[in-house]
Amino acid sequence: MTETMTAKTRIEQLRSELHRHNHNYYVLNAPEISDFEFDRLMRELQELEAQHPEYYDPMSPTVRVGSDISNEFVQVAHKYPMLSLGNTYSFDEVSDFYNRVQKSLGSEPFELCCEIKYDGVSISLTYEEGRLVRAVTRGDGVQGDDVTANVKTINSIPLVLHDEGYPREFEIRGEILMPWEQFDRLNREREAQEEALFANPRNAASGTLKLQNSAVVASRKLDAYLYYMLGDTLPDTGHYECLQHAAQWGFKVSPAMRKCNTLDEVFEYINYWDTERKNLPVATDGIVIKVNSLAQQRLLGYTAKVPRWAIAYKFQAEKAVTRLGEITYQVGRTGTVTPVANFDPVQLSGTMVRRATLHNADFMENLDLHIGDMVFVEKGGEIIPKITAVDLDARSFMMGEKVRFITRCPECGTPLMRVEGEAAIFCPNDVTCPPQIKGRIEHFISRKAMNIDGLGAETVDLLYSVGLIHDAADLYKLRIPDISRLERMGYKSAENIIRSIERSREVPFERVLFAVGIRFVGETVAKKLARAFGSMERIENATFEELVAVDEIGEKIALSILRFFSNEQCRTLVARLKEAGLQMEVVEDESIVRTDKLAGKNIVISGVFAQHSRNEYKIMIEQHGGTNVSSISGKTSFVLAGRDMGPAKLEKAQKLGVPIVDEDTFLGMIE
Ligand code: IVH
Repeated sequence: MTETMTAKTRIEQLRSELHRHNHNYYVLNAPEISDFEFDRLMRELQELEAQHPEYYDPMSPTVRVGSDISNEFVQVAHKYPMLSLGNTYSFDEVSDFYNRVQKSLGSEPFELCCEIKYDGVSISLTYEEGRLVRAVTRGDGVQGDDVTANVKTINSIPLVLHDEGYPREFEIRGEILMPWEQFDRLNREREAQEEALFANPRNAASGTLKLQNSAVVASRKLDAYLYYMLGDTLPDTGHYECLQHAAQWGFKVSPAMRKCNTLDEVFEYINYWDTERKNLPVATDGIVIKVNSLAQQRLLGYTAKVPRWAIAYKFQAEKAVTRLGEITYQVGRTGTVTPVANFDPVQLSGTMVRRATLHNADFMENLDLHIGDMVFVEKGGEIIPKITAVDLDARSFMMGEKVRFITRCPECGTPLMRVEGEAAIFCPNDVTCPPQIKGRIEHFISRKAMNIDGLGAETVDLLYSVGLIHDAADLYKLRIPDISRLERMGYKSAENIIRSIERSREVPFERVLFAVGIRFVGETVAKKLARAFGSMERIENATFEELVAVDEIGEKIALSILRFFSNEQCRTLVARLKEAGLQMEVVEDESIVRTDKLAGKNIVISGVFAQHSRNEYKIMIEQHGGTNVSSISGKTSFVLAGRDMGPAKLEKAQKLGVPIVDEDTFLGMIE
């Protein structure tokens, strides 16, 4: 056997083994091998595939890690429209549904299938010859976004079906979900990065599915349950039975499906899951009741919007009444002060709740809270409980004082301020107010800034509280023993932190500029400034006119930069960081050619390329003075198009008369 034959055989063997282990782990919840062994097999396959690109397979288990090639969502029409369900909120309405079905079927016996209503994002998957070919979102029900590349990263969705007997072509629909555990982790990370939090796992799943970078999607660890099969030829005559076949082929089908023959059985099912759902790892918002026989489903048909053969029963949002205790105030990293209501502990959706955010002064004022009030606390689809109202009947004249927003910062005592027309009240003392100092250090070490790993919010808090750091520059004075003798800090982790701090000296200037935390100077603005001025010193000395002359730098940003450098403490911080050896200027790579051949051109990239990756083309555009833009408009100079450019983009470009340029022509332009 030749060497390549061996490689091919091994690749095939690894792919099939990994598909099987994946299914065992993510669908059946019954792994046969350790995570370590799984990772080892995956790495072996990745290496072999890298050495043998000729055996590329878009269905390989390695696609689960995603790629950073930007995905463009092409609109795809659904073969069968994606309808929603009629909602009911009471047993009476469920009973009405049952009677309607019975009447329409002319007293013919029928079975119902009860299942859990998962609260995520609906998806339609198409399989051909046992392989996943397309994943499309619901969109407007008639057409949706093609999110195949992102969906392929979801481990519980089979790329290749096992077993036999699946139709040559079929569609299966289900719900993409972000498990609570992942949702909490993601929000913790976002909080650390000062990014807006997702209100609930549904929004988080939907936001994730629309990300351009499927490597990030992969890291978010979505899950999926499938609940509806469609096609010209299906494996069975009942809905429940079809899904049992789907489970055999490798799909994750809810184990909670149950066939019922009477209305009482349906109610029993609802009652059981109304409490039991709190123990599930994913969000649910009701029960779906379907007529099981596919022939009867056809007989019953559809109204304009919903099927007549199925209905949703929605669970009530959980409510409780409890006594309001004190109001505490949290000072965020940017100085914003948030009021928090503390109350007697109550049980809500299976967890003990003691406090709820009051968001801001207006929200608090509108509730008209008095200490000791009986308040209604609710936890719906949102993870964070909220106070929805005061029980005014329970208020007596003996009741405590009306709640008023504090006037001084609870952390540093500085009088609080409010910007006219804005909801937030904030502490203006950004120099010595502890949460603001810690917040700036956390921003400095964050991934997109200096990327100092091993150091998180907790360690920053610890180092600050023992007086080891007062600002970001102090990090560079730390030594291993300073850290290792602290509580819960071993020598090994201290060593890692120091190594990571050392490494950050190599972080390029543009990220240092982002890390120092000038208001309104985000990642992109920092890049523009670094490119335009070349060094911290030049930015420090730039005038207002010089700053606003830079592309995309407006008055607000320019003033903020001037304000930053006119502050003595900020200037000292920058000087000390320079002393610590951080990159304070752009290091030009001699091998990079820069021209202004594309100056003033707005370019959209679309499709798949043969000679360079999309990212490389993006960099080339910038190096030659052009600007990358994401969507086609009248201002687009041209579209750099590769293979398989999305049809929607093509049509738009043609309609607006935007020229399409291929790879070779483009390379000729910048030669
Ligand atoms: S069946 C034509 N089954 O709820 C009927 N839907 O409010 C197709 N959903 O769009 C839907 N769990 O996104 C069905 N077990 C389940 C479901 C379910 C969640 C979602 C689905 C649908 C929405 C309707």
